[in-house]
Amino acid sequence: MTRLTDQPAWQALQAHAEAMKTVHLRELFATDAGRGEKYTAQGAGLFLDYSKNRVTDETLLLLLQLAEQTGVAAKKGAMFAGERINVTEGRSVLHVALRMPKGSTLMVEGRNVVPDVHEVLDRMATFADRVRAGSWLGHTGQPITNIVNIGIGGSDLGPVMAYEGLKFYSQRDLTVRFVSNVDGTDLTEKIRDLDPARTLFIVSSKTFTTQETMTNAASARAWLLASLHDEAAVARHFVAVSTNAGAVTGFGIDAANMFGFWDWVGGRYSMDSAIGLSLMIAAGPGHFHELLAGFHEMDEHFRTAPPEKNLPMLLGLIGLWYNNFFDAQTVAILPYDQYLAYFSAYLQQLDMESNGKHVTLGGQTVDYQTGPVIWGQPGTNGQHAFYQLIHQGTKLIPCDFIGFMQTLNPLAPHHDLLMANVFAQTEALAFGKTLAEVQQGGVSAEQGPHRVFEGNRPTNTILADKLTPRILGALIALYEHKVFVQGAVWDINSFDQWGVELGKVLASQIVPELRAASEPELGHDSSTNALIRRYRAGRRAE
Ligand code: F6P
Repeated sequence: MTRLTDQPAWQALQAHAEAMKTVHLRELFATDAGRGEKYTAQGAGLFLDYSKNRVTDETLLLLLQLAEQTGVAAKKGAMFAGERINVTEGRSVLHVALRMPKGSTLMVEGRNVVPDVHEVLDRMATFADRVRAGSWLGHTGQPITNIVNIGIGGSDLGPVMAYEGLKFYSQRDLTVRFVSNVDGTDLTEKIRDLDPARTLFIVSSKTFTTQETMTNAASARAWLLASLHDEAAVARHFVAVSTNAGAVTGFGIDAANMFGFWDWVGGRYSMDSAIGLSLMIAAGPGHFHELLAGFHEMDEHFRTAPPEKNLPMLLGLIGLWYNNFFDAQTVAILPYDQYLAYFSAYLQQLDMESNGKHVTLGGQTVDYQTGPVIWGQPGTNGQHAFYQLIHQGTKLIPCDFIGFMQTLNPLAPHHDLLMANVFAQTEALAFGKTLAEVQQGGVSAEQGPHRVFEGNRPTNTILADKLTPRILGALIALYEHKVFVQGAVWDINSFDQWGVELGKVLASQIVPELRAASEPELGHDSSTNALIRRYRAGRRAE
């Protein structure tokens, strides 16, 4: 197989990038009056303006050729067909099956998985409706009013992001919290004001072995029993979301209160499975199904739209352009909507756990950059924190701006001000301000350089009418598939996460060393040994 860097399109892109490094967005806009209309695409209710990128028709053509030469379409087909594309774990990658409408078919090794998906969705809806209506009673006969999701990584970030994202649509008399960190402060602070008799814990863990989640679940159980004094209470106050039925029942959770999913759902791709139970309870089954419909609409767009009009393809390839040919190390995700406060944190796991890989599918060390660092914050807060560096720093940081035409909370003049900032920022980043323009404003020669904005900072602008469950689903799926496109070109496995294992193994070795009654013999390096001894000497006994 041809190495990525030997592909004709890669080589052509390298030469083209050299030429493009001296081209400014000012020139690109000046020479094409229609550019702002031309470099746009839409799908699943999302509009993308990618005109403020350092790309020309030639760039796009070469990027699309690269996708062709690296078999992105065939790889996409293999994913949608349920092939075992997660080769290091021998699994299919079928989060797209989680949002297929009832009645559709997706055969995986002779079995249509869609009815299985809907069977779980239906059970979730029945349960969610009971909790929402106050008819799921706790052990003492009181209705549940507090929901605490215990999970970490994909079993936390998706639900918390989407719960915050859809808070407008949520049942406000329910208190919904998310506990993830093994730091006891997280659980302590999240439950300190809750009444155990009215609290339901959802223990969400694909494996049901994750140290953080199991520790938090055990402490939550102890907290409940300290108040209700009856083991039988666990069945009314704990439900589980997992693929590991044995471990769930071992924990003491009734199998009837377990909502399952499948090994073909990756943790970071699982928020639309039963892992979304907390969200379904908060926002209601109807809104959850709308969210799934939005995911599915984007799946269909990704599957069927021609590459040059395909949103995930465009976002993926343009991102790759800066990552691989302009040495951009990071990407900022900047949603201008307070409800999307956790969106960049969610995308961090989605993108960085998927594409933070250094070997190809065949096991060769790559000789090119793979996944970027993803970060960001909602606008306009970021503008008063880190945008300075994006505007005038020495690093190239491509940004995605996300905004909505209508606000869910009309409070004049807020929304116009918010959106004016989206348009102003992308304009300023693209076009900047030259020294001549600065001096025209009467700034001295000495002060001038400090006020210059080079511009030529690339941005995508993603717009939708309104933050609805459907649009949120489409937006998440857009980024899932963007990550797929990039991973496919880089020829890496976007669906395993071996990089988190070593730390887990070492931590499990160190735990007994920290807890041993007498001084243990330590076999680590001298730094780790000394740190462990210092901690043992200095910690407060629990
Ligand atoms: O961080 C590693 C990881 O395996 C993630 O991929 C996953 O989302 C998270 O841990 C939680 O895993 P689980 O759902 O099995 O508890």
